[in-house]
Amino acid sequence: MASPNMITTIFFLLVLFVTNNTPCEAQLSSTFYNASCPNALRTIRTTIRTTISRERRMAASILRLHFHDCFVQGCDASILLDDGPSIVSEKNALPNKGSVRGYEVIEAAKSEVEQLCPGVVSCADILTVAARDASEMVGGPTWSVKLGRRDSTTASLVLAETGLPSFKAPLDSLISTFSDNGLNARDMVALSGAHTIGQAQCFTFRDRIYNNGSDIDAGFASTRRRRCLINDGHENLAALDLVTPNSFDNNYFKNLIQKKGLLESDQVLFSGGSTDSIVREYSNNPSKFKSDFAAAMVKMSEIRPLTGQEGVIRRVEYDLDSKALFLQLCARHEGDGFSSSSKKWLSEGYRKVVGGLVNPKHKRFGVLEEHPVAQGHAQAAVESHQTLKDNIKSLKKEFKIYRWNPDLPSQKPFLKSYFIDLSNCGPMVLNTIT
Ligand code: HEM
Repeated sequence: MASPNMITTIFFLLVLFVTNNTPCEAQLSSTFYNASCPNALRTIRTTIRTTISRERRMAASILRLHFHDCFVQGCDASILLDDGPSIVSEKNALPNKGSVRGYEVIEAAKSEVEQLCPGVVSCADILTVAARDASEMVGGPTWSVKLGRRDSTTASLVLAETGLPSFKAPLDSLISTFSDNGLNARDMVALSGAHTIGQAQCFTFRDRIYNNGSDIDAGFASTRRRRCLINDGHENLAALDLVTPNSFDNNYFKNLIQKKGLLESDQVLFSGGSTDSIVREYSNNPSKFKSDFAAAMVKMSEIRPLTGQEGVIRRVEYDLDSKALFLQLCARHEGDGFSSSSKKWLSEGYRKVVGGLVNPKHKRFGVLEEHPVAQGHAQAAVESHQTLKDNIKSLKKEFKIYRWNPDLPSQKPFLKSYFIDLSNCGPMVLNTIT
C-alpha cells in the first residue's frame, strides 16, 4: 500500500502537471489601464460626449460600429483598418460600405489618448468604451467594461460579408449568427433593441414597405413609402424607432408588437416565433430591457478579444529613415501604406508640425484645423513629440557636406561628415536636412 508521503508526492506532481499544462491566458480586466493610463477612460468619454452633443445620431453609429467590429474576427478593431498592401478593408464590405459611420470619432478619441499615453490604449478598447459611453449619453444603460483588448494586424472583408446578419434574415438565421458568437436568443433580442436609436436607408426596408405583407401596419408602411419611393431615394433615411428615434428606451419593442418594425430582421422578432415572449417582456418592462441590454453588450464586447502578446497596440509613429512623420492611429497597421487622403493629411501635418516645432510662434495647423481627424493626428504628433524625442535619444544621422576653402584654392573640395543628434538639433539643422 502506498504511504501517506508517497500519496502527497503524487498529488503535488499532479498539481504541477496540471498547472504547467494550463495555457497562461491573459484576461481582460476592469483595472487594466489604472496604472498605465489612468485618465484614458475619462478622455474617451469627453471625446464621445462632445461628439454626441454635436450630433446625437453618432451615439447610434458608434454602437453599431462596435457590433460590426465584434462579429468579425472578434472585438479587435479590425473594422477600423484602411486598405493597405496586406489589408483588404472591412469598411468596403457590403454591410459596412456607405452605411457604417463613426470611424473618425474613434480616431479622434485615440488621438486624444495617444497624447496622454502613447502606444498604451488599444483601438479595440477605445471602441468598447465609446459604445458604453454612447449608450449612456442618449439615456441608455451604462455598464462596467473589462479592458486589455489588443488590435488586430489583419482585417477580413470576406468575414464581414458572411458573418454579419442581413436585414432580411429570418429568425432562425439571426439566432444562429448570434449563437456563432456565443450569444443566445435572449441576448440577440436585447441587442436588437439598439434599434431604439439611429436610422436606416430606404434600400434596407423598401421591400418590406411595398410588399403589403400581413406583418406590417398599413398606415406605417404608407408613411414610410413617402420618403422611400419604389425606384428612388435609395439612401433616404428613416428612424428605426418611429416613436422616440433619438432616445434609448423600449419603444422599439412596443413598435414590433404593433407591426411597426422597420426592417424585416426587426419584425421577425415578433411574428409568432420563439422570441415573441421576450419582445413582450421588454415592451412591458423597460428596466429589464436595459439591464439585459447592458449584460449582452458586455458579452458582445468580449467576443474573441486579442490579449497578452496577441495583436498590437496601433500607435503614432515617427519614421526617421524616410524623414517623414508617420502618424499611425486606428486606421492603419504597421507596414501598410496610407490611403491617398491620409497621405495628404500626413504630408500637410508633417510640414505644419515641423514648422510649429521649429518656430513656436508659427500657426501650427492652418488648413488642418477644418478636419477633425487630421487635427487629431497633427495634435497627437505635436504632443507626443517629446516622448518620441526621448525614445530616439541615441539616434544620430550622418549629414555629409561638400567643403572647400577659398583661402586654399589648390585644395580640392572634400566631403565632410557631421553626425547630428536628431533629438537635439536646432531649427536650422532640421530645416536643412528635411
Ligand atoms: C439582429 C441583427 C441586426 C441586423 C440585421 C441589423 C441591421 C441593421 C441595418 C440594415 C441598419 C441600417 C443601416 C443603413 O441603412 O445604413 C442598422 C442600423 C443600426 N444598427 Fe443594426 N442590425 C442588427 C443588430 C444590431 C445590433 C446587435 C446593434 C448594436 C448592439 C445594432 C445597432 C444598430 C444601430 C444603432 C443602427 C443605427 C445606426 C446609425 O444610425 O448610424 N444593430 N442595423
